[in-house]
Amino acid sequence: MSTAAVERDSLIAHEDDLLLVTGASGFIGSRLVACLLDRGFRNVRCFARPNSEMTALGRLRGSESVHVVTGNLLSRNDCDVAMKGVKVIFHLATARDGKSYSDAFMNSVVTTRNLLDASLEHQCLRRFVNVSSLAVYTNKANPRGRLLDEHCPVERRPQSRGDAYCFAKVKQDELVIEYGGRFGIPYVIVML
Ligand SMILES: NC(=O)c1ccc[n+]([C@@H]2O[C@H](COP(=O)([O-])OP(=O)(O)OC[C@H]3O[C@@H](n4cnc5c(N)ncnc54)[C@H](OP(=O)(O)O)[C@@H]3O)[C@@H](O)[C@H]2O)c1
Repeated sequence: MSTAAVERDSLIAHEDDLLLVTGASGFIGSRLVACLLDRGFRNVRCFARPNSEMTALGRLRGSESVHVVTGNLLSRNDCDVAMKGVKVIFHLATARDGKSYSDAFMNSVVTTRNLLDASLEHQCLRRFVNVSSLAVYTNKANPRGRLLDEHCPVERRPQSRGDAYCFAKVKQDELVIEYGGRFGIPYVIVML
């Protein structure tokens, strides 16, 4: 086999594989969709809520490679439909209101659980790309002025920090790790 063929076989996703982007109408999601198309992916499913503001996706919606699926990730059924046949999910959807714990928990944690459960149903996922945040780390123990980065420990008591976003992202990451360990879902957590 040629080197190029070996390299191609080692890729997680090929150009025609079905990719799912949640939060596709959002700030980063819309840019990610553009990047995936630039890299030659031809089967990108974009998940958005029925009332999502779609201007960020703009002209990308007209591409033959982009298919918009509408629903709500709080619905297990909508997640089942969205995950069908998906090889790689880029999970970016997250609660927009960073102040309400209930909203953050519902739209970051419950939504993630629904997607993970749906992936177990379909059994074809090669990677769950969970987009997290540097907000999950704490630099409390660092000497004054030191950077907050991925070398810092994850907040151990996020419920006490007074930051609903941090709380929800810590819980979301824990859930992904738990499902990965218990059910063998291949995942990666990306810190932004
Ligand atoms: N932007 C940053 O600087 C930054 C920094 C660190 C980490 N991150 C992470 O990167 C990811 C993307 O961030 P972003 O700034 O692009 O977010 P964003 O612009 O706020 O977009 C969030 C997206 O999630 C969708 N969403 C929320 N709840 C949903 C639900 N129940 N069902 C379906 N969709 C739902 C929203 O849909 P609607 O349009 O309908 O509301 C929206 O499209 C997030 O996971 C975030 O934690 C971002």
